[in-house]
Amino acid sequence: MSEKVTTIKLLQKKAAGERLTMLTAYDYPTGKLVDEAGIDIALVGDSLGNVVLGYENTIPVTMEDMIHHTSAVVRGVERAMVVADMPFMSFQVSSELALISAGRLVKEAGAHAVKLEGGRPVCDTVRRITDAGIPVMGHLGLTPQSVHKFGGYRVQGRTESEAERIVSDARALVEAGVFAIVLELMPAELAREVTAAIPVPSFGIGAGPHCDGQVQVIHDILGLYPGRKPKHAKAYADLYSPMLEALKSYADEVRNGVFPDEEHSF
Ligand code: KIV
Repeated sequence: MSEKVTTIKLLQKKAAGERLTMLTAYDYPTGKLVDEAGIDIALVGDSLGNVVLGYENTIPVTMEDMIHHTSAVVRGVERAMVVADMPFMSFQVSSELALISAGRLVKEAGAHAVKLEGGRPVCDTVRRITDAGIPVMGHLGLTPQSVHKFGGYRVQGRTESEAERIVSDARALVEAGVFAIVLELMPAELAREVTAAIPVPSFGIGAGPHCDGQVQVIHDILGLYPGRKPKHAKAYADLYSPMLEALKSYADEVRNGVFPDEEHSF
């Protein structure tokens, strides 16, 4: 087994100019796949609300959902760092609640770090959690838990004032102690500016090529989710179609009495 990924290792890789990799994982098999592929971070994203649980957005995802899925990913991973998303309303109410929620993700589910959405308004919370010894990843730009405030999944930071706010939020998050920041859906030039302004790794999703690393939703890059094709995602496979064909073949063989045959019987 190669060396475990830690926050220090990520910083060293950034300093060495090595590009970093992160992919979502939601259960034991996807955790194992991400780990075996040599990806640095398995992110148990609250995007599981969309791609695993069938919700329209991430808002209904609960702490119990996150603990259940994070535990399964942790069981599949030997080397990668496992980062668990803090779901909607698990950290916004108070720093105390946030610390309790982050503690549960680490203590009950085995996550190595947590991620939470937001800039300056969450900095006290970030400080409270990192002071307790739990590494925190920030998340700026399009923060999906605020979808109703944004009025949809739109590119952020297109105006000068928005862009300035994002750069200043990134600096404030670093000051509060984050070990990395996700930059979601923003112009590539703004992501370049943020990346240059912070000493910790940036991970882009729909934020162009100038970030220190990239993060994607595993269902998007494997083509596992029909009808979901975000512009920022590249499908490296189309696994939904062969999976569907395999299931149809099974059903046909059962209906026609072909399966189970002698080979699969005792
Ligand atoms: O929930 C998630 O999958 C995420 C990534 C898109 C960064 O937050």
